[in-house]
Amino acid sequence: MKTVLAVCLGIAALAGAVEAQADPILIKFSHVVAEDTPKGKGALLFKQLVEERLGDQVQVEVFHNSSLYGDAEELAALRDNKVQLLAPSLAKFETYTRQLRVFDLPFLFDGLDAVDRFQKRAKGRQLLYSMEQHDILGLAYWHNGMKQLSATRPLRLPEDAAGLNFRIQQSEVLETQFNQVGALTTRLAFSKVFDALASGQVQGAENPWSNVYSQRFHEVQPYITESNHGVLDYMLVTNARFWYSIPHRIRTQLEAIIDEVSYAVNREAARLNALDRQRVAESGHSQIISLSPREREAWRVAMEPVWRHFEADIGPDVLRAARASNLREE
Ligand code: SIN
Repeated sequence: MKTVLAVCLGIAALAGAVEAQADPILIKFSHVVAEDTPKGKGALLFKQLVEERLGDQVQVEVFHNSSLYGDAEELAALRDNKVQLLAPSLAKFETYTRQLRVFDLPFLFDGLDAVDRFQKRAKGRQLLYSMEQHDILGLAYWHNGMKQLSATRPLRLPEDAAGLNFRIQQSEVLETQFNQVGALTTRLAFSKVFDALASGQVQGAENPWSNVYSQRFHEVQPYITESNHGVLDYMLVTNARFWYSIPHRIRTQLEAIIDEVSYAVNREAARLNALDRQRVAESGHSQIISLSPREREAWRVAMEPVWRHFEADIGPDVLRAARASNLREE
């Protein structure tokens, strides 16, 4: 009871402070990717619309390519209110919830449309609130795209990956996924991936085309298998205490802008990834390998045990809802 009261008083004090101040509310939005990607463009559109519509009441500063905080620090910085908006990939919330592991399961979603349906339905929306006890509030999902496997040798069948070391995000699911095909993993912040691939510290990675092209991973990965084996999407998150401290009138306008930006990001993501796929193909650096249905099925079967391993963490109801999203009608 005392804790609830203290939190309410804290929020009220913050709200009072924000109302009373003459200065605009400052929202720092930090992310780890390039500007010319679905997330990078979304952050810039958010800034543009907020400044057009909320003028002198709210200011937005955007920091891209880990220039303010990288993967290792950004969520702690959000909880300390040193930054007010982030959009980490869904694999990066391990410390705060295990339910989001559903998004990392290999071959769970048939494509981005299925991911979109899951995110819009009740179970997907509930996950936006799964970290509130840590002061992390989900405001929206943003798409990037389906991940492709890249490596120093051609990967057609699961056994081709055996013995290679893959860079992964901070995710136990992704570690298990690669171990399942006999590969090793190294967890690295996104800002370290190019150097790790270039130096040979790791020999493979998994990323959507927009990240491959914008970070030049294709220049140091001679083979990219178009595996579409998993999704890399984002949750736009804020510090819950900061968010609820914003005067209601301003907050509802910010939420309307976020809806508009999310719609634009999610509509554009597939187009941007297709464009970057083409740019990678035209660069001549990497050979793009298409899998036959039989080869793709071999990867799916090899990675299938990963689902069972994480079902209890995720919750059978969430997993069922995610699988059901492959069907248009529930
Ligand atoms: C991102 O798209 O935000 C980075 C994903 C990664 O770390 O691979």
